[in-house]
Amino acid sequence: MRYVIDRMTMPDVPRVIEIERLAYPSTWPPSAYRKELQDNRWAHYIVLRDTQILTEMRLAGEQQEQEKPRKNRLFPLSLLTSRPSVSQLSPELASIVGFAGLWLMVDEAHVTTIAMHPDYRRRGLGELLLVSLIDIAYEIGARWVTLEVRVSNYPAQSLYRKYGFREAGVRHRYYSDNQEDALIMWTDEIHSPEYKQKYTALRTALMQKLEAQG
Ligand SMILES: CC(C)(COP(=O)(O)OP(=O)(O)OC[C@H]1O[C@@H](n2cnc3c(N)ncnc32)[C@H](O)[C@@H]1OP(=O)(O)O)[C@@H](O)C(=O)NCCC(=O)NCCS
Repeated sequence: MRYVIDRMTMPDVPRVIEIERLAYPSTWPPSAYRKELQDNRWAHYIVLRDTQILTEMRLAGEQQEQEKPRKNRLFPLSLLTSRPSVSQLSPELASIVGFAGLWLMVDEAHVTTIAMHPDYRRRGLGELLLVSLIDIAYEIGARWVTLEVRVSNYPAQSLYRKYGFREAGVRHRYYSDNQEDALIMWTDEIHSPEYKQKYTALRTALMQKLEAQG
């Protein structure tokens, strides 16, 4: 498959922050990611890579090496114009197109963030991030998955509802940038036969869709 999930590492953080700025009205300070990755043993963060970008940029780099005496530019103009925001990044960083994370709190997995680069939305990739988080929740022994989401964020709510999250309450004025309320959403017990069956069916359908995309 073209897209892969990796654990987030410290060198990924500048690109993660770039995507975060495009995805959220307010962002975490870079030090927050440092703390999460280095000091928080209950935190699990992932990045989603587009391997096509990796391949294209590596090929372009090799081509540039071969043509060095004649040309003195970083990447071919065609790549620069089609991907202006990534032209200054290494292939490894430029290939990151989304990220997500959760904390394990006793037996609850709290989704802390999930974001796709705007150019990559509506392809099933936000869903792939959520599925990867739920897979992690199973691996680390969580029994429920929970999160907060802005009351106005219908795309995200629709994604969560698809995966069995239900409203369990409201945190009033939760978001400090505009005092917006947050919906608190929870899954049922993820180990229950009903949830597992639904989750497995959704996950299988998603993987088939993404495989078909190439
Ligand atoms: C929420 C977000 C991660 C979804 O990513 P995405 O890659 O566009 O979503 P997908 O293509 O995987 O869609 C999966 C499901 O999400 C829902 N969805 C996604 N975008 C939607 C939209 N614009 N309108 C309605 N439903 C939407 C649908 O249920 C969809 O399932 P379907 O394809 O069967 O209809 C993305 O919109 C994003 O990064 N938003 C900004 C950051 C954010 O708000 N994060 C959530 C914080 S709580």
